[in-house]
Amino acid sequence: MRTLLKAVRCLACGHEMAPDPDIASCPECGGGWMDAVYDLAALPADWPALVKTRPATLWRYRELLPFPADFHIFTLGEGWTPLTRAVGLERELQHDSIWIKDERQQPTGSFKDRQATFAVSALYDQGIAEVVMASTGNAAAAYAAYTVRAGIKLWVFLSSSVPVEKMRELALYGIEVIKVSGTYDQAKQVAADFAARHNLALERGAKAIPCKESMKTIAFEIVEQLGWRAPDWYLQAVSGGIGPLGVLKGFTELYAAGIIDRIPKIGVVQTAGCSPMVQAWEQNLDAAMPVQPDSLITVLATGAPGMAYKILKRAADQYGGAMVSVSDGEAFRAMRWVARTEGISMEPAASVAFAGLEKLLARGYIQAGECVVVNCSGHTFTAEKHALEDRYLLHLKTPSSPATGAIPKEGLAAALERLDEQITSLVVIDDNPHDSRLIRRLLQSYKNYRVFQAYNGMDGLALVQQRQPDLVLLDLTLPEMDGFSILAELKTDERTQDIPVVVISAKSLTLQEEAYLQRYTDSVWQKGSFSTRELARHVTGILGAQPDELARLLDQAPLKEHEKLVKSFGVGDYKHILVIEDNVWEARLMGRLFESQPRFAVTEVYSANDAWAAIKKNPPALVVLDLVLPDITGLEFLEDLQSQPAGADLLILVVTGKELTIAEKKFLSAQVDSVWPKSTLNRAALLTYVEDLLLE
Ligand SMILES: Cc1ncc(COP(=O)(O)O)c(C=O)c1O
Ligand SMILES: [Zn+2]
Repeated sequence: MRTLLKAVRCLACGHEMAPDPDIASCPECGGGWMDAVYDLAALPADWPALVKTRPATLWRYRELLPFPADFHIFTLGEGWTPLTRAVGLERELQHDSIWIKDERQQPTGSFKDRQATFAVSALYDQGIAEVVMASTGNAAAAYAAYTVRAGIKLWVFLSSSVPVEKMRELALYGIEVIKVSGTYDQAKQVAADFAARHNLALERGAKAIPCKESMKTIAFEIVEQLGWRAPDWYLQAVSGGIGPLGVLKGFTELYAAGIIDRIPKIGVVQTAGCSPMVQAWEQNLDAAMPVQPDSLITVLATGAPGMAYKILKRAADQYGGAMVSVSDGEAFRAMRWVARTEGISMEPAASVAFAGLEKLLARGYIQAGECVVVNCSGHTFTAEKHALEDRYLLHLKTPSSPATGAIPKEGLAAALERLDEQITSLVVIDDNPHDSRLIRRLLQSYKNYRVFQAYNGMDGLALVQQRQPDLVLLDLTLPEMDGFSILAELKTDERTQDIPVVVISAKSLTLQEEAYLQRYTDSVWQKGSFSTRELARHVTGILGAQPDELARLLDQAPLKEHEKLVKSFGVGDYKHILVIEDNVWEARLMGRLFESQPRFAVTEVYSANDAWAAIKKNPPALVVLDLVLPDITGLEFLEDLQSQPAGADLLILVVTGKELTIAEKKFLSAQVDSVWPKSTLNRAALLTYVEDLLLE
């Protein structure tokens, strides 16, 4: 089973290169879109029969895949998904031959697993240990699973519109997830700059050979499952277009090899809110103009499809085909309708293709008797909030220009610098939660580091092994496993031996212990005998923080003013909390409680009227509401909030001294996140709850 790959061709200028699937750019024109070329004449005449004898995975088509025979594959059993006849849809749409390619049944729940197994195996083959990608969610989930298996570190940049459930799904794999405030196309730009800045490999998507070649296997499987026969149509929900590009290439090769008698028509379906291809196609243009996505279906958010459109347009001109858009509402309706008629539930992005099927039939593009295959491209799984630890997500705020939406160069550089700060992580191992918290706050008031905390030795060791932090702050007397044993473990494991350890302990040390620590740690600090500022300066120094203007000011200011200073420099991402409480003294008390968390900024107001003004000026991340107010009752205020766009989506927490009736409790449970009676209020618990709620 050897590959028949014979050359790599540049799509821009046609220049042919050696048959190496990893070639990234053309030496003739600098173009980055590559195509794999195969020696189809050498394909054995009995290839279909030969393929049939092989295991039921997508790897059974090895002759027409770009990898050598000894290539190491990372697999989770992807491919060879069912092709199911959609009897219910056929009946309802009164069309004779509709098939569903059920890509939900892939290891991570979407057809992107095909791409991930190819691309990740290729990265491993090239000896790449770390890779950066931008994604709208599903490709990232697929890459996360396969990079874990291959031992490759993955950095994923997502646009902020990706639902938090999808982000958690990714974080579950322990990869680095960075949310970029901006569009998907901006997240792509930031990912590319981040990769360049850190000299890391960047996932190239549709331009790269492994990605597109992987999607060919959908075409091969469909043809084989139909009895080595071509369908008339292949329909798919399209974002960047890797799927249809690969599928088209697969059909084209089978046609050229004489295995099928025609090249099927491709039906490209996009959400109306992000449909650059459809818009161009409707105007018969050869290139698609970029659009700003405005759709709830965030998985399909490629606003600038580039070359992918040109290729699909050319194919549509040559072999027939069509491009249509459907509204979000039409997609959601199709989602319910297919679940109810076929017993197949899917995510909204996949249902876009089914709404498109309806439209293409209604408009007469698909004609009676034509065999249609629809890709049911995904149904990804979502992780619940409590499944994850704190701070799994990094947030990169890009200052985009309001006029053009573009990110100015200097703004991007500053944002990436702040990200560098955030990806610097520390593990604090201290069994005293008070000390641990103090250390965390102190360091975070200097720089927005990621600080992970463990309260006993075993957890601490595991955390260091998992997180591979830039520094460990270690207490010596710990339950389960003491600091010395942890140190011994860390220093004898090659993955952790170079991580600097700073010891902070109240233990009095023997001379022997002192000598040991001197040898294996960076420094030892006796609890109660050092200035916290000195420690912070030392630690930030080890981590390579530049002494900047802020640090200089921090040095001169008393500790209680640090927080204000840090905020005034706009460092980190703060959560704004609005406290609405008619009793000024209690409002301040509540304000102080939240301000003890360095990432919270608090505004206190004493009436509903002022609350409205504050919400309109700066929408808070959380409203903490007392039900007794001077102007209107808290319940009336809640009703008002619900009826106004600025108020309807606010996260609200009620803290009240009022005795509630059953009806009031019922009303509140539908309107607010939680209710905290003042009589039994545990302030520490409230703070922790709000930290969990707001800080990810
Ligand atoms: C479920 C699902 N359907 C469709 C698409 C669009 O894929 P393509 O990259 O082929 O445009 C994606 C892309 O992530 C997806 O996850
Ligand atoms: Zn070229």
